[in-house]
Amino acid sequence: MAHLLSSSCSLNISCPKTSLNSSKQNLSSFPTSLTLRTSIQPFKTLSLNKKNTPKPFSVNATTLQQDGTKTGSGSDQTSGEKPRPTRVMVIGGDGYCGWATSLHLSNKNYEVAIVDNLVRRHFDDQLGLDSLTPISSIHDRIRRWRSLTQKDINLYIGDVCDFEFLSEAFTSFKPDAVVHFGEQRSAPYSMIDRSRAIYTQQNNVLGTLNVLFAIKEFSEDCHLVKLGTMGEYGTPNIDIEEGYITITHNGRTDTLPYPKQASSFYHLSKVHDSNNIAFTSKAWGIRATDLNQGVVYGVRTDETEMHEELYNRFDYDGIFGTALNRFCVQAAVGHPLTVYGKGGQTRGYLDIRDTVQCVELAIANPAKRGEFRVFNQFTEQFSVNQLAALVTKAGEKLGIEVQTISVPNPRVEAEEHYYNAKHTKLIELGLEPHLLSDSLLDSLLNVAVQFKDRVDTKQIMPSVSWRKIGAKPKTVSA
Ligand SMILES: NC(=O)c1ccc[n+]([C@@H]2O[C@H](COP(=O)([O-])OP(=O)(O)OC[C@H]3O[C@@H](n4cnc5c(N)ncnc54)[C@H](O)[C@@H]3O)[C@@H](O)[C@H]2O)c1
Repeated sequence: MAHLLSSSCSLNISCPKTSLNSSKQNLSSFPTSLTLRTSIQPFKTLSLNKKNTPKPFSVNATTLQQDGTKTGSGSDQTSGEKPRPTRVMVIGGDGYCGWATSLHLSNKNYEVAIVDNLVRRHFDDQLGLDSLTPISSIHDRIRRWRSLTQKDINLYIGDVCDFEFLSEAFTSFKPDAVVHFGEQRSAPYSMIDRSRAIYTQQNNVLGTLNVLFAIKEFSEDCHLVKLGTMGEYGTPNIDIEEGYITITHNGRTDTLPYPKQASSFYHLSKVHDSNNIAFTSKAWGIRATDLNQGVVYGVRTDETEMHEELYNRFDYDGIFGTALNRFCVQAAVGHPLTVYGKGGQTRGYLDIRDTVQCVELAIANPAKRGEFRVFNQFTEQFSVNQLAALVTKAGEKLGIEVQTISVPNPRVEAEEHYYNAKHTKLIELGLEPHLLSDSLLDSLLNVAVQFKDRVDTKQIMPSVSWRKIGAKPKTVSA
């Protein structure tokens, strides 16, 4: 048994605070037994790429290619279109979606700045977890990217809940667009105990609020692209629309935000984010796109494949692992696939290569001032039983015998239900989906097999129960 929390130790990580002087009184709000960071350092010294930044919207980022030619910014260099937003701040750029997106945007000649407090790496230390794939430090990742492509990625290490830090990052980098991935993103993590529930909502809601204030204060034309989740909608017995639904009630008609029925403290934090963004779009004219993302699978993108130091993380454990990734690892190590309950839980899924494409499309086609757009970001729907069947079939092709077991569902959720969610807006903008074909599953399984010696089988079973969450700091078996 590993103690997740120790009351005798305190955690020192930058937490929501208004000034550096007030840091001490906030240090206890992050739930861990580890000392992570003592304070926010003057982040300018942590920026790998210190240089004078151009004024927003004033120039195309210019990058010297290996062949010596120069290219401009944005995706399309040949169409003669008006220059698109060029300077993109990726909050949470060291994480699973954020790292792949940062590289993709940099490769497309956007000027990229990663903002991250590296807390995801500390969750692993705290809980005794690890990525299936070995991942390099953020510094080595960025150095490797530069040596391969001659493209710089700016790095700001700090917490977006710290407004002073965020303000400095904004005024220094001057983003045209901010992609906000930087949240605690695991539903099980948020359901471990009271302190994790509070940390999740504080980190996510206050961080996003700070980003909104930073845009208003320093960069009011900046486009916010915020990662939400399809889980905000829950599983209603009607079709799920993209953000809004037109309702006729007692003879009157209105188009209203689609009802949200979140089912964990994590998902609830996302609902509150969406409300805050919608409100500030209206009140302050913020341009915003809420990407209600489905469950992401896969690990490879064109850029992360270029070198092992660019590998993305791949979570397979019961707390951070997502369904299909987890099943592939389970199959690779001969563990039965763990279907929760009846397995009829149906959700939207997408390949990580489509995550990066969707984010680029959102940036390249910004929302208008005061517009709050909602896109449902997924490409296909599957039930858990369907995923298990697909992995079993893919395993057979590779000579792996795959079994499936039903385990008691640790979550509170419908196990058989109607599910039909719209997802047309990103397709209309040009998304070309990578669908879950046999060949993709083969390659995902192959990655799992390649790294199977790194699998800690003790992390496979679910360890967090929605019903058993309590106020006491929780010990979880490891
Ligand atoms: N992975 C999925 O399947 C999935 C599905 C739907 C939505 N999303 C959303 O996409 C986003 C990214 O998910 P992910 O899987 O890449 O998560 P991740 O945990 O791998 O990455 C999140 C990153 O944000 C950083 N971070 C967290 N809090 C921060 C803070 N206060 N200040 C600065 N940095 C902070 C972490 O260190 C980490 O690097 C999340 O908002 C998540 O809710 C993910």
